[in-house]
Amino acid sequence: NFAARLLLLAMAMATSGCAGVQSALMPSGEEAIEVDLLFWTITGISAFVTGLVVVLVAVAMYGTPRWRARLDRDWIVWGGGIVFPVAVLTGVFIYGLIVLRSGDLRAREAEAPGITVVGKRWWWEVVYTGPDGEPVTTANELRIPAGRPIAIRLESDNVIHSFWVPRLAGKLDMIPGRSNVLTLEATEPGLSRGQCAEYCGGAHALMAFYVEVLPEEEYDDWLAHEASDARPPESEQEIRGQEVFMRNGCGACHSIRGTKANGVIGPDLTHLGSRHSLAAAALPNGKAAIAAWIVENQHIKPDNLMPEYRIFEPEELNAVAAYLESLE
Ligand code: CUA
Repeated sequence: NFAARLLLLAMAMATSGCAGVQSALMPSGEEAIEVDLLFWTITGISAFVTGLVVVLVAVAMYGTPRWRARLDRDWIVWGGGIVFPVAVLTGVFIYGLIVLRSGDLRAREAEAPGITVVGKRWWWEVVYTGPDGEPVTTANELRIPAGRPIAIRLESDNVIHSFWVPRLAGKLDMIPGRSNVLTLEATEPGLSRGQCAEYCGGAHALMAFYVEVLPEEEYDDWLAHEASDARPPESEQEIRGQEVFMRNGCGACHSIRGTKANGVIGPDLTHLGSRHSLAAAALPNGKAAIAAWIVENQHIKPDNLMPEYRIFEPEELNAVAAYLESLE
């Protein structure tokens, strides 16, 4: 019946926000903490005003004649209809401006952007400034240090995307031909999930990523590792996998630094094995998922720019997947 459905809906809404890694209500960044407080303040004020209106309407409709007469005053119309809403809305507006300004102040403290994220169809290219100032390209995952403001340059070379990590900061659009800068400051190490927040095509919902916040020292080590060339294949199967990868032209679209593969169309695979997910968080990372992606990626993420490679023998497919998984 209707009441049961309403209860189910309420329960679904109450639990859906508790997913953790992607919840704006579990903030772990300075910006997100302020947005969370703003959200609860406005929700509280709205609940109070709604309750007040419901009580007044109930009194006006069902109250005794004496109570109804008490509501029949000019000052209630002026006060409740104009003065009160103007005062409340002005207060909320000023509070919003203060939150906005504190974000601006933090943006001024941040260093020049050392990370650029470019929205692709439908994944994220991530370019770091490496330890020696050289660009270090990776994909679909960010690692940032905790405890200091980080500026991230946001761009797109195709349609409009939007970069949103609800636990860390508000969202900001990635617009072709423009550079936007988002500042965020993670308060503690941990894992967060981000999601494209602007409809950008068929696979928009499958355009996600992870942000791992690291302690400062670990971050420097990680960046140095990320800047290094790919680990050479070791086992016989990995060597075979690299050979199959190169022979089939995978390197025309993908880069693996330290090898001949230097394509720029698809995600850089230099340290693929060390990431939390595959295909912009559409799949968990691992050998089986890599193999599945190679042969049925159009089923997993329709209309993505990679063709399905169904030409491999099972032995070749296993070898390529083992090689790519070994790239930590
Ligand atoms: Cu990219 Cu939606």
